[in-house]
Amino acid sequence: MTTQQITKFEELVYTTRIETVMATNVIVLSPNMSMAEVKDLMIAKRISGSPVVQDDKIIGIVSMSDVIRAMEQGTMNSIVSEIMTVPVRTVSKDASVMEAVNNLGRQGHSRLPVVDQDRRLVGIVTNATIMAALLREMEVSFQKKEAERLQTYRASHIFQDIASDDTSLSLRFVVHDKDFDTAGKASSMIKKALVRLGVRPPIVRRVSVAVYEAEMNLVIHTDVGGELIVEIRPDKLRVSAVDHGPGIDNLQQVLQPGYSTAPQWIRDMGFGAGMGLANIKRCSDMMTLLSEPGGGTRLEILFNFEEQEKDD
Ligand SMILES: Nc1ncnc2c1ncn2[C@@H]1O[C@H](COP(=O)(O)OP(=O)(O)OP(=O)(O)O)[C@@H](O)[C@H]1O
Ligand SMILES: [Mg+2]
Repeated sequence: MTTQQITKFEELVYTTRIETVMATNVIVLSPNMSMAEVKDLMIAKRISGSPVVQDDKIIGIVSMSDVIRAMEQGTMNSIVSEIMTVPVRTVSKDASVMEAVNNLGRQGHSRLPVVDQDRRLVGIVTNATIMAALLREMEVSFQKKEAERLQTYRASHIFQDIASDDTSLSLRFVVHDKDFDTAGKASSMIKKALVRLGVRPPIVRRVSVAVYEAEMNLVIHTDVGGELIVEIRPDKLRVSAVDHGPGIDNLQQVLQPGYSTAPQWIRDMGFGAGMGLANIKRCSDMMTLLSEPGGGTRLEILFNFEEQEKDD
């Protein structure tokens, strides 16, 4: 077996949505506050950075290091709008935690404001809020396990109760291109379905990671989106990610870890490390990529169930 085990924690990073891990009691600054007022507020509220909001919209962000710089430069009378960092990188409440993890720590970003569909501020995430929430999720998922076992039991009987020469269950999900607000949703639903069907946790984790990467590739690299098809059989599972273009020029090249054609604006969102396909390969038992330039792309990912894996 060359595939690697995916930890529960890694799985949660991919499948948990930002909304679950964000802090909602966000303290905001107004653009005409003085830096002296900002300093007092940050000390009083024990925060080290805060978004600047005007008319419900985030227009900038100020961190404690901006305050310290203003102190050193004797510009504590400056107002927030003169000092704040713009533009502000934000993340959608429906996005996967993976997106925040990719962005935090890059270019000195230690906090990301969270916005809703109307781009209104609804929360904030930092490494600390993510860590605390994911630990909580692990605890909850442990406690829920017993309760879920009953439901899972019934669903997982599908394969035993229905006699045929070849029973399979097929799930289809449409994925829209460049729609980062709903990106990751299909992967979340697939994970939930597999849990209900009684697929073993180590397999669910591997499928969750692979399917997230496949979904993001449809979002990022296709012209008109595509679809994810999951075909579940008693002994194996196949995921197909299919689209109608633009296709891939050089298949060998894109399979090399680190190679990416993602444009700068996609990289600015934390994607485009060129690790998606490598990640899928690492998690699966077989991966096949078929494509022709100008045509569509078909990625087939296979997972075998029969191997003996340690349950968690
Ligand atoms: N469905 C697709 N259609 C067209 N090109 C694709 C498709 N999927 C992948 N590619 C090409 O393969 C390259 C490598 O994909 P891979 O998922 O490994 O990395 P990435 O998506 O660029 O970055 P990351 O996944 O790390 O965010 C992409 O940059 C893109 O050029
Ligand atoms: Mg990718």
